[in-house]
Amino acid sequence: MTGKVFFSVSMSLDGFIAPGSLGELMGRQWMELQRWIFPQRFFRENLKLGEGGEEGRDNDIVRETFERTGASVMGRRMFDAGEQMWPEEAPFHTPVFVVTHEKRDPWERPGGTVFHFVNDGIETALDQARQAAGDRDVRIAGGGATILEYVNAGLVDEFSIALSPVLFGSGIRLFEGVDAGRVALTQVRAEPTQRATHLTYAVRER
Ligand SMILES: NC(=O)c1ccc[n+]([C@@H]2O[C@H](COP(=O)([O-])OP(=O)(O)OC[C@H]3O[C@@H](n4cnc5c(N)ncnc54)[C@H](OP(=O)(O)O)[C@@H]3O)[C@@H](O)[C@H]2O)c1
Repeated sequence: MTGKVFFSVSMSLDGFIAPGSLGELMGRQWMELQRWIFPQRFFRENLKLGEGGEEGRDNDIVRETFERTGASVMGRRMFDAGEQMWPEEAPFHTPVFVVTHEKRDPWERPGGTVFHFVNDGIETALDQARQAAGDRDVRIAGGGATILEYVNAGLVDEFSIALSPVLFGSGIRLFEGVDAGRVALTQVRAEPTQRATHLTYAVRER
């Protein structure tokens, strides 16, 4: 039995998942977008940000998302940004397949994360991730361009959005260019907390 293919992102109320330039990545807007997740105990432990932290529903959602993920797929720009920011023990602890035109040998990190660089398209990357994930799910980790490719190809089963109380005005818009004639959604869950509204949708073809 194979698992689901899903993505899970934080999104501003006006639909953006990142500021426009990587230079702004750790700036004010990014911190406001991610304000719900930084205090969570599981997130802090996984990213080696320090002991302690909150333990409510937000924390459970972070942990559940991690635990269901048997392998991840990400785009090159997300990888490039993360390469500078993740601790040596990268926070995935599973194989990660990076879709890219760059040829590069696998990069193994302590703690079980191995980055594989896939040069022949999103379907090959997903096939490899499914194999690696076994019964668990495959997470399309980001960023926007890569998520959109998978959505438009009809390869995403489900997604979750943590809707953050922040407005960006501009940046990387999650669904810019979506094939709206092809993609239909069913709402699975909506869970408000004090920090964010967690929305989950199932995806089906129209
Ligand atoms: N808010 C959140 O929860 C969240 C989550 C994840 C990421 N993000 C943000 O998203 C941003 C990055 O997103 P992005 O949309 O700019 O880029 P992205 O999707 O991470 O990466 C796009 C790049 O991946 C490679 N690529 C994608 N599809 C490919 C294909 N079919 N074949 C070969 N290469 C392919 C290409 O790079 P090359 O041609 O250079 O190889 C392409 O330029 C970052 O700022 C990150 O922080 C936010």
